[in-house]
Amino acid sequence: MSQPQTPNIFSRPLTPPPVNLELEQKLILTLFQQGKLPEAERASRSLSERAPKHGFAWKALGLILSRQGRKEEALQPMQQACKLMPRDAEAFNNLGSLFEEFQRLDLAQSCYEHAVQVDPAFQAALDNMIRLVERQDRPQELLPLLKHKLKAVPGDDYIRHQVDMLERNQTDAAPSAYVVRLFDHYADQFDHHLQHELGYRAPFDIVRLLEQHAPEQHAWRVVDLGCGTGLVAEALAGRAQSLVGVDLSEKMLGQARARGDYTQLACADVLAHLQQADGASADTVIATDVFIYVGKIDEVVTQVHRVLSPGGLFAFTVEDMAAASEAPTEADLARGHRLERSGRYSHADAHLRKLAERHGFSVLAHEATVIRRDKNQPVHGQLVLWQR
Ligand SMILES: C[S@@+](CC[C@H](N)C(=O)[O-])C[C@H]1O[C@@H](n2cnc3c(N)ncnc32)[C@H](O)[C@@H]1O
Repeated sequence: MSQPQTPNIFSRPLTPPPVNLELEQKLILTLFQQGKLPEAERASRSLSERAPKHGFAWKALGLILSRQGRKEEALQPMQQACKLMPRDAEAFNNLGSLFEEFQRLDLAQSCYEHAVQVDPAFQAALDNMIRLVERQDRPQELLPLLKHKLKAVPGDDYIRHQVDMLERNQTDAAPSAYVVRLFDHYADQFDHHLQHELGYRAPFDIVRLLEQHAPEQHAWRVVDLGCGTGLVAEALAGRAQSLVGVDLSEKMLGQARARGDYTQLACADVLAHLQQADGASADTVIATDVFIYVGKIDEVVTQVHRVLSPGGLFAFTVEDMAAASEAPTEADLARGHRLERSGRYSHADAHLRKLAERHGFSVLAHEATVIRRDKNQPVHGQLVLWQR
């Protein structure tokens, strides 16, 4: 009698474990959120092999690879996710970011556009689109996107100022939120970028002007309005007896603080700071490249006059409205300042001279200069020195 044969379990093809979509999705998400990326990668790879028509597994795999810096590997699974889930805005946004990494900007933009079309309230895709269009300097396409964004976030003053500048709505000053966001973001690169790439030297030119016109003043009590990273302190090179810096951006102030040259640093709006300062408490007030964000300076001038001691000096720079790419209109000249497409304000010479006269300042200098370059073009401005 023949013996019953033992079944050879090793010769059977292995059946993959059954798919439990809900549970596996939860597991992948949990591993991802806990930062256990290799485990999350294994789980999503396994799911994508067993359920290849299931878009989530590909999307998760793409995201996990991307998070690990493996952008090239992430591209194919994310494309697969988009193919399987054409209405998944997040997958298209992620794919757009990957294309952007590889400088395939047209593809990136199509992905972001599709994501916004599928889900008009999806802010991340809209932000990416805005950034991409800005990066490519395409103002015509930028304006409708910004307006779309402003509808979704009506209180966003950064976006509002951008809309104003592109629509040429004339306002009196850039909102604080705009200044803070711009300069907090810029603070780390500011000195290098401005001085070495844009040829900026206004603080040094202004101190030269002070030396030329008031060489006898040696014990200056100086207020540096919109002090930024403190280039004015560098230009003053120890000449000031006391040096107060005022700025809205904490990050810029952090750079100024690191120089160690300021007696006091205040995080405040220039006008608010002047309004609470004692009368005749300063001998020199300096504002280099600050009134490009404060268009209407009438009240600042009133306060500077009050804060300066008799004979005190007010030294500042402006961008020149007459030299801007668009000729000033009657209304611009009457207003005295104009919000340019750059988001910065320019000023009219005649208006500045009128302000000086109205407040009893004598004009010691009013020199044409190139403030910096912008998109490889010189930005023309004025170095101004008034005496109280
Ligand atoms: C272009 S930077 C110039 C910084 C510095 N004065 C220089 O010449 O290097 C302009 C600075 O002005 C500050 N600023 C702009 N508007 C301001 C306001 N209303 N009050 C205070 N600071 C302001 C910005 O935060 C930024 O640091």
